Amino acid sequence: MTELLNFSKTFIKEHIKEDSVVADFTMGNGHDTLWLCSLVKNGFVYAFDVQEQAVNNTRERLTGEGYSNFQLIHDGHQNCEKYIDREIDAGMFNLGWLPGGDKSIHTLRESTLPAVFSAIKLLRKGGLITINVYPGHSEGKCEGELLMEELSKLSKFEYCVFVFRLVNSPEAPFIIGIEKYNK
Ligand SMILES: C[S@@+](CC[C@H](N)C(=O)[O-])C[C@H]1O[C@@H](n2cnc3c(N)ncnc32)[C@H](O)[C@@H]1O
Repeated sequence: MTELLNFSKTFIKEHIKEDSVVADFTMGNGHDTLWLCSLVKNGFVYAFDVQEQAVNNTRERLTGEGYSNFQLIHDGHQNCEKYIDREIDAGMFNLGWLPGGDKSIHTLRESTLPAVFSAIKLLRKGGLITINVYPGHSEGKCEGELLMEELSKLSKFEYCVFVFRLVNSPEAPFIIGIEKYNK
């Protein structure tokens, strides 16, 4: 499964350059934030999490690796437009809870949906948002269904919305991608 979810990085990588502005909407322990910092050497990374511990762990991880091109925001991703005042080239959501962390703190459909639509508003033409969804637990299943329903309403002339999933394992994690056409 990890291999499947790694495809979101493959898709993201295609859409960013060294001077890109990007966002990790679910920072967690900062693995994805670190990966983004390593790619956008002259660019900038915004990262969000509701858990202070996540922000502290990530700050330690990034500074330990010598990065300073980031802003770690201790707030929900649904508030991202308060903090990001420019277009982003790419954004990543990795839903659910922190592996090895408190399972009672996890993403929720009522904040995930507005966060994804705010991220889409911030996205520059030609940019990409990826969302890793975990339908193996009940909230993850609901988040996935709601996102599919609402994202299917986006104009096919402005966006390419795709799903990357295992057709023979409906409970397996899957990826939703939203690309804003460059026109
Ligand atoms: C699957 S983990 C992310 C893993 C992370 N990308 C990494 O590389 O370690 C999901 C994270 O989303 C966070 N989260 C939950 N609700 C959130 C919200 N409304 N806004 C931002 N982060 C949220 C959780 O605290 C958790 O750390």
